[in-house]
Amino acid sequence: ISDVQSDITEVLLTEEQIAEKIGDLARRIEADYTDDDNLLLVGVLRGAVMVMADLARELRVQLNMDWMAVSSYGSGTQSSGVVRILKDLDTDISGRKVLIVEDIIDSGLTLSWLLANLRSRGAASVEICALLRKPEAVKVEIDVRYIGFDIPNAFVVGYGLDYAERYRNLKSIGVLAPHVYS
Ligand code: PRP
Ligand code: MN
Ligand code: MG
Repeated sequence: ISDVQSDITEVLLTEEQIAEKIGDLARRIEADYTDDDNLLLVGVLRGAVMVMADLARELRVQLNMDWMAVSSYGSGTQSSGVVRILKDLDTDISGRKVLIVEDIIDSGLTLSWLLANLRSRGAASVEICALLRKPEAVKVEIDVRYIGFDIPNAFVVGYGLDYAERYRNLKSIGVLAPHVYS
């Protein structure tokens, strides 16, 4: 990647910090589910791809993986509040124990909508695991069972998180320099 370093003002979370937290989250999740639950992880494309891949491999419990693609952001930095299903689940979740896997909760709009949507399909339970949460998220009431880090209200990229589809492949999570989006 050319000159990505000048686009990042500060590394917020290193690869090692992220890996350690994913391990912590996996231990907590394992304690709450058995093999018989046949937990269904629902990854929210595309941001949650890295969290999903790493978390799933840390979980020592039987599980299935499925994906939804929803979008509320487009290419900007502000949430529009409009959630669209771009790709629905391939799995019938009625009676299933579901864990939504997300990279970040910002305004909380995506997850509050997704929670209601999945609960309406008759799942046995729907919980949330999000690696990051921003302060704004507390304004929307969502019960998040597993949260990795509470972070400041900066625009962050890396480890799945993008700005205009870039930076998802960074191993660490960093603060995007204002010159990139202003
Ligand atoms: C980002 C992020 C979360 C959501 C959080 O996804 O990955 O899914 O926004 O924002 P909210 O709490 O304000 O709803 P985005 O819509 O950018 O799609 P992407 O995952 O494909 O990047
Ligand atoms: Mn997303
Ligand atoms: Mg995005």
